[in-house]
Amino acid sequence: GWGCGDWEEKNLKYKTSETRLIEILESVCEKSDFKCNKVLEEQEEAIEKWYKKFRDDEDKPLRTYLCVTTVNVCCPENKFGAKCAEECPKGNSDEICFGRGKCEGAGDKEGSGKCICDSEYTGDVCNKCADNHFEVHSNDSYILCRSCHQSCGTCSGENATECLTCRDGFKEEEKDGVKRCIDINECVEQQNLCGDGEYCANTAGSYKCEAKPEAKNEEAKEEKKEEL
Ligand SMILES: *[C@@H]1O[C@H](CO)[C@@H](O)[C@H](O)[C@H]1NC(C)=O
Ligand SMILES: *[C@@H]1O[C@H](CO)[C@@H](O)[C@H](O)[C@H]1NC(C)=O
Repeated sequence: GWGCGDWEEKNLKYKTSETRLIEILESVCEKSDFKCNKVLEEQEEAIEKWYKKFRDDEDKPLRTYLCVTTVNVCCPENKFGAKCAEECPKGNSDEICFGRGKCEGAGDKEGSGKCICDSEYTGDVCNKCADNHFEVHSNDSYILCRSCHQSCGTCSGENATECLTCRDGFKEEEKDGVKRCIDINECVEQQNLCGDGEYCANTAGSYKCEAKPEAKNEEAKEEKKEEL
């Protein structure tokens, strides 16, 4: 019948599937991918068709059905180039960019296929540690890098006592037989770093010049005058 319960049930069902479709649609394109989002907008009919026929088919995710097969503007994931013939680089690893970065333009006909490494890694296939990082463990197909202590330039481990070289603004100092990189106090070691009306403030690895409190007041007064 057409009781309230029935109406509610139908609408709830509708709501659920609609919500699900929206969720799926939101997962198809990266927000910044203008082209992908444009295609999505233009292909409402195809999307509905996919939703009715293939939504539960694991071999036909919406991205593949729509972008690769129907509209033919993108490549399968991890392939790129005008004919989708090129593969993103892996090096010796099973994973794209050694599992330590993203392949720029993966799935894109105009993609470069270059690895954009995560911040800890560098190299063509992201199989090296970035500056200020050290290798925790590596073999032919795997690498794990971590950040050095902030006082180190290069290091063999994460402890402050494991620097190989000091970071700019730090100098090596030995105390009780242990070498460390100590922050250089530029404000003490160098003269006249800051201008009149400023004082020098030491920071880790550097220094900054800040307006002296009286000077600040003067400035505030000046500003007030201008306002009037
Ligand atoms: C390389 O190291 C990783 C992580 O420890 C390990 O899972 C993998 O089996 C190693 N591969 C080789 C070829 O030794
Ligand atoms: C760093 O090394 C020193 C000396 O070997 C040790 O005493 C200290 O506990 C270590 N610190 C950390 C955080 O591992």
